Amino acid sequence: MKKIFILNGSRRKEGNTAKFIRSISNKLNEFDVEISHPQDFNIETCVGCHQCFLKAKCVQLDDLSLLEEKILNADLFILASPVYLHYMSGELKMILDKFAWWAHTLRLQGKPVVLLSTCSTNGQDSVIKPLGEIMNFMGGNVIATANASSALDQLNNPDWIKEVSEEIVKRIKQSIEEPPQSNSFLENIFTGMKIMMQGQAAYLVENDMEKEELGELKFWENSGMIEFKTFSDYLKHKYQ
Ligand SMILES: Cc1cc2nc3c(=O)[nH]c(=O)nc-3n(C[C@H](O)[C@H](O)[C@H](O)COP(=O)(O)O)c2cc1C
Repeated sequence: MKKIFILNGSRRKEGNTAKFIRSISNKLNEFDVEISHPQDFNIETCVGCHQCFLKAKCVQLDDLSLLEEKILNADLFILASPVYLHYMSGELKMILDKFAWWAHTLRLQGKPVVLLSTCSTNGQDSVIKPLGEIMNFMGGNVIATANASSALDQLNNPDWIKEVSEEIVKRIKQSIEEPPQSNSFLENIFTGMKIMMQGQAAYLVENDMEKEELGELKFWENSGMIEFKTFSDYLKHKYQ
């Protein structure tokens, strides 16, 4: 059974974002769907040690690896947040900071991603846009984004909910059956990051260092990504 993992950046399990998520997840009964909130994990604050960039994992002893496993094992990832002062919730940002090395390794490997937000009146663009960029840099293929505003009473409007949720569910059902895909954003990121990794490989040789000392480069090499001209070619080789 295909898996969908949902991370809601709000602590409110009966809040607006949870309600928006349910309007979609209620129509996904044929999949194994799990919904989580920040308080479901004991995740330490990033202390800025930069070790994750070298070790390709966070060195703090917390639940990050549990969350990591849930996201990576899912066939599709839904990331949602309420608008807090024109941005995603602070707790969600703190969690995403802990995955910073994913932004150099396209760690989501073309996984389809849906982004949702809820707001009172405004600020949704400064949630959806950065989340989209973060997900793209992490290798996620964003297939749908949507915001629900309580000032417009959208979550209590059956016509609005039906139209938006049905469109998102249609895209989810289509994408989840396909192998992970690239897109033009991911191709640009792949090209830029590959140049960065080739620079790291040269640095390694010049300084007589072991590959083990540069975890991100090791990921590019062990996954085979570094051998490919495009992300799309790599994904085809990996999944087809
Ligand atoms: C700390 C905080 C900051 C907020 N900032 C905004 C904002 O900038 N713009 C807005 O329209 N709504 C803002 N809201 C309202 C929430 O985005 C809105 O009620 C959201 O749907 C709450 O989702 P939840 O019930 O899932 O937590 C804020 C709410 C909180 C608690």
